[in-house]
Amino acid sequence: MRALVLGGAGFIGLHLTRRLVADGHQVTIVDDFSRGRDDPDLAQIRPHVTVRQADLTDPAAYEGLAHGWDQIHLLAAVVGVRNVQRDPARVMRVNTLVTQHLLDWIAPGERLFFASTSEAYADAVTAGVADVPTAEDVPLLVADVAAPRSAYAISKLWGEAAVLHAAAARGFSPVIGRFHNVYGPRMGADHVIPELSLRAIRGENPFRVYGADQFRAFCHIDDAVDAMLRLMSADAASGQIVHIGNDTETNIGDLAKLVLRIAGADPELRPEPAPPGSVARRCPDLSRLRALTGYEPTAPLEEGVRRTLEWYRERW
Ligand SMILES: NC(=O)c1ccc[n+]([C@@H]2O[C@H](COP(=O)([O-])OP(=O)(O)OC[C@H]3O[C@@H](n4cnc5c(N)ncnc54)[C@H](O)[C@@H]3O)[C@@H](O)[C@H]2O)c1
Repeated sequence: MRALVLGGAGFIGLHLTRRLVADGHQVTIVDDFSRGRDDPDLAQIRPHVTVRQADLTDPAAYEGLAHGWDQIHLLAAVVGVRNVQRDPARVMRVNTLVTQHLLDWIAPGERLFFASTSEAYADAVTAGVADVPTAEDVPLLVADVAAPRSAYAISKLWGEAAVLHAAAARGFSPVIGRFHNVYGPRMGADHVIPELSLRAIRGENPFRVYGADQFRAFCHIDDAVDAMLRLMSADAASGQIVHIGNDTETNIGDLAKLVLRIAGADPELRPEPAPPGSVARRCPDLSRLRALTGYEPTAPLEEGVRRTLEWYRERW
């Protein structure tokens, strides 16, 4: 199989590429390395993949790139709360242009995975119009179009619609996966598990715990990659929006204690308010994913957090 991974030097992209290579497939990565890293993890698989450095907001990125891909994964985007707060205009620009140029280039018959997000429905949960666990068909709303935080969700909602309409018009086969709190090694420092791990490793005391009474359902990267590949080989998934994650909820205060135990630290805990705009509870309803693919998350949280923390201890 030939796979094209756009944003392949990033967190999900590199884990996906590693799995595709291990399964014996030919992979081409395109990344501008704005966030993706040319590090020992990438170096390890470089002999087995083609790496192109290109900015996918420029249609010239596709010049000379042949067609005939069995799978195309669009993961390239500006992500992370800090980026979104600092420069929402960049989030809108990059996430929409990257998607539109791909849709102008993709050929009939090719199969596309578009990476969307649980943020797409976050405001509907906060407004009480969507239940938790949350299914794909809840009504969507944006509480404040002008809020910087909304830029990311709006860019992904636009992307979902753009992909579905282009697929119907042009005859390619799309799957839209909305990721929910995927974690694992090499995911940057912004997300909750690496952020807690790094502070635990550094011996912070008192130890700040933001939003200790909130709940999330954490999905190990190996499970997320498994779900993506199952969806890409399920004919019935074509044209569907599908939630990807784990549906076991974890309290953030308990997560902090788990991270500290694994790090071998026992500091005084200091509860702090949750980051502004973050939802109190997030958990995907995975019925559609299970029905389409037979997927079950398998990575236990404790083992996943242990492997993630060890990676950050050694490599960050
Ligand atoms: N990690 C999660 O839990 C999560 C949750 C929801 C959605 N997602 C979505 O999944 C996708 C992958 O997320 P991730 O966590 O791996 O993020 P990431 O930032 O690690 O990976 C994105 C990659 O895209 C590259 N990129 C950005 N702009 C580019 C451009 N103009 N041209 C070429 N490459 C560019 C970056 O350098 C990076 O390597 C994103 O689309 C994100 O919105 C992830």
